[in-house]
Amino acid sequence: LFPWAQVRLPTAIMPQRYELDLHPNLTSMTFRGSVAISVQAVQATWNIILHSTGHNISRVTFMSAVSSQEKQVEILEYPYHEQIAIVAPEALLAGHNYTLKIEYSANISASYYGFYGVTYKDESNEKKYFAATQFEPLAARSAFPCFDEPAFKATFIVRIIREEQYTALSNMPKKSSVPMEDGLFQDEFCESVKMSTYLVAFIVGEMKNLSQDVNGTLVSIYAVPEKIDQVHHALETTVKLLEFYQNYFEIQYPLKKLDLVAIPDFEAGAMENWGLITFREETLLYDNNTSSVADRKLVTKIIAHELAHQWFGNLVTMQWWNDLWLNEGFATFMEYFSLEKIFKELSSYEDFLDSRFKTMKKDALNSSHPILSSVQSSEQIEEMFDSLSYFKGASLLLMLKTFLSEDVFQHAIILYLHNHSYGSIQSDDLWDSFNEVTNKTLDVKQMMKTWTLQKGFPLVTVHRKGMELSIKQERFFLNMKPEMQPSDASYLWHIPISYVTDGKNYSKYRAVSLLDKKSGIINLTEQVQWVKVNANMTGYYIVHYGDDDWAALIKQLKRNPYVLSDKDRASLINNIFELAGLGKVPLQRAFDLIDYLRNENHAAPITEALFQTGLIFHLLEKLGHMDLASKLVARVHTLLQNQIQQQTWTDEGTPSTRELRTVLLEFACTHNLGNCSTTAMKLFEEWMASNGTQSLPTDVMTAVFKVGAKTDTGWSFLLSKYVSIDSEAEKNKILEALGSSADTRRLYWLMKKSLEGDIFRTQKLSSVIRTVGRSYPGHLLAWDFVKENWDKLVQKFHLGSYTIQNIVAGSTHLFSTKAHFSEVQAFFESQSEATFRLRCVQEALEVIQLNIQWMEQNLKTLAQWL
Ligand code: BES
Ligand code: ZN
Repeated sequence: LFPWAQVRLPTAIMPQRYELDLHPNLTSMTFRGSVAISVQAVQATWNIILHSTGHNISRVTFMSAVSSQEKQVEILEYPYHEQIAIVAPEALLAGHNYTLKIEYSANISASYYGFYGVTYKDESNEKKYFAATQFEPLAARSAFPCFDEPAFKATFIVRIIREEQYTALSNMPKKSSVPMEDGLFQDEFCESVKMSTYLVAFIVGEMKNLSQDVNGTLVSIYAVPEKIDQVHHALETTVKLLEFYQNYFEIQYPLKKLDLVAIPDFEAGAMENWGLITFREETLLYDNNTSSVADRKLVTKIIAHELAHQWFGNLVTMQWWNDLWLNEGFATFMEYFSLEKIFKELSSYEDFLDSRFKTMKKDALNSSHPILSSVQSSEQIEEMFDSLSYFKGASLLLMLKTFLSEDVFQHAIILYLHNHSYGSIQSDDLWDSFNEVTNKTLDVKQMMKTWTLQKGFPLVTVHRKGMELSIKQERFFLNMKPEMQPSDASYLWHIPISYVTDGKNYSKYRAVSLLDKKSGIINLTEQVQWVKVNANMTGYYIVHYGDDDWAALIKQLKRNPYVLSDKDRASLINNIFELAGLGKVPLQRAFDLIDYLRNENHAAPITEALFQTGLIFHLLEKLGHMDLASKLVARVHTLLQNQIQQQTWTDEGTPSTRELRTVLLEFACTHNLGNCSTTAMKLFEEWMASNGTQSLPTDVMTAVFKVGAKTDTGWSFLLSKYVSIDSEAEKNKILEALGSSADTRRLYWLMKKSLEGDIFRTQKLSSVIRTVGRSYPGHLLAWDFVKENWDKLVQKFHLGSYTIQNIVAGSTHLFSTKAHFSEVQAFFESQSEATFRLRCVQEALEVIQLNIQWMEQNLKTLAQWL
């Protein structure tokens, strides 16, 4: 009988140190392993319970430090919890140390999880083998038996046997490399710092690297040999960011080396393994000729994110996965914060603002959850990796930083990191550090709990009478049907209220007060024309005004928009469209507001307006209201035609201008506006005539390829390029173009091939499905594909994962009929109970429901008015 019934391990036994020996065979996809774990008993017990799954265990021995005599012991297995148990030959005594040694063999995984293998073709089309690890959250246990919970920190010594042509890497620097018989080598790595199992990593493959020393830490970027000339940007960026974080946190990065590795096939974007950060090739490599400014930002951001984890997550770790937001929210916040500080020209605040908009859309649903929610099962743990943990977490930190000031914020996080280095924490520990710094002037814990323990966010409604602003809060809830309204009345947040006005004394970008009741009053000291609350949208809430105040803001935008910041302008657009979706504001008023866009030249407001109107366009189109859809586009075009005409087909300008160019020209080309497609076709034909050697402006490359992909020869040429080129940046642009084809057979073929993983790597599948699902010819196809291949998808990406969430949303989010609702519901109901209960499934159903309601409410108005 298995002696333990719970999912969480008992705490009587603490691992101290692991010695892990591995001998992988990359061609047979198997490995042999042996792990010696030194443990300490903190309570007397007979049992040692730990995690292990998929291991063929051949021998287990037990030894107490006192007797130092190995005894062979039996093991018990409980596969359902992925646990094994050893009943010790003697009672284990509190305070005593023991060593457990387990010898085993296992398969190298064919998914992207655990110790997994991939193959790829090199330049001369030769098949190559590569093995890497992805352990977060629960897969270290499939590579070696271990106490696989983040709070069980220990040190690790790793030894790997490899063939001569391969490089082996692990978290720590290599200590020695010993030749063995058969031409093999055994590499041993230094003993690690105290760390969680999910951060352990090792890689075996043919690689080259470029390195630079940063105050005693050797920073290296690794890639497969033929891509080594694409690593310079990453190296420069990493060096700058590492220096920045060490200064900002006032804590040195503790290891002697930091490797960043581009893995030929990788499910996530990147993973922060301590000292051995793994990436997709597209998120680490940068190619001067084909990487766009958006690609450069992506690489910079992801490096900034994973480096921030070396402190937030690796040095200071959440005790359990319920607090995942402390890892991901902080890393995401630091991503934008560090970019603002050292790569200001990239205007990454625009992306941060955009992700706040998207996250609030999701958080407004009933299927949302508090970022701090209790989790037990592996699906629940996987599901914590969603945009709420990342972006709501990051947004709350931004709100807090803006409220407290940058200095106070920095002091608090330095204190927190120092106090908890190499330890495990909960959210309360973070708030305690803040409270230590604010020193009772403000109870940060009480305030922040209203944001982390409640799902959703507030709608703040403002009414101005003379110089008095009366404000009230309620939950912003995107479900208009009264019978569906849960009792929301109890929701209450502590909201930092900030505002800007046209008055001379009123540029109050910092919050002036905390609304911690249902309603409150703010007194202005001067008569003003307009007030915009939630300045720069640094607060995580949406604002609604009385009719006159909306009118005043719209008037100001039309007269001179630049009195308000680009963030304020973008957030007005966002808020008014979201309020229209809620039925609080007539849709016409939202369109009235964006009329000012004729005078708008900044990326953030234009991008948001195109997003909001694009969503309406997509719904209309998929419902078959083609006439209305094209009238809508024509209307938006009249607002933006000057800006579109002014665009050049170049890479000139600041990053923000360049990204705006991408957005505008893709909009124009997609909808055949002006002479966009003609110009793009000309560029495409020249490019094709040069056999793809002539360089194209990178920011408009996708637009050019998309137009080119419309002809048969264009499509085939793009495909032939795809298989022969080395730049992931260029390949992605081609793939997006291939996926925008109107030929459904081609779209189906693309998805099928991405699932097979030969021509298109399986890592691209979720984005292929999303691209196909967005287009009119592809939207039903994408869903059919997901249904038909559901079992394979779950096998490859596992239930609850980020990728599965993406696939479900990407294939359903534009449905807006009752028939589709029933169809999606019926499909997931016919799967396992666990599948139907997935949050992404509930969310998909809710989104379809809301699309239906949106149409019921607005279709008539739209028809009349357009
Ligand atoms: N820790 C995550 C990687 C991860 C994601 C592990 C999902 C397990 C499940 C890593 O730090 C991360 O957040 N990666 C992001 C990129 C980031 C810049 C948003 C990713 O992979 O998308
Ligand atoms: Zn992360």
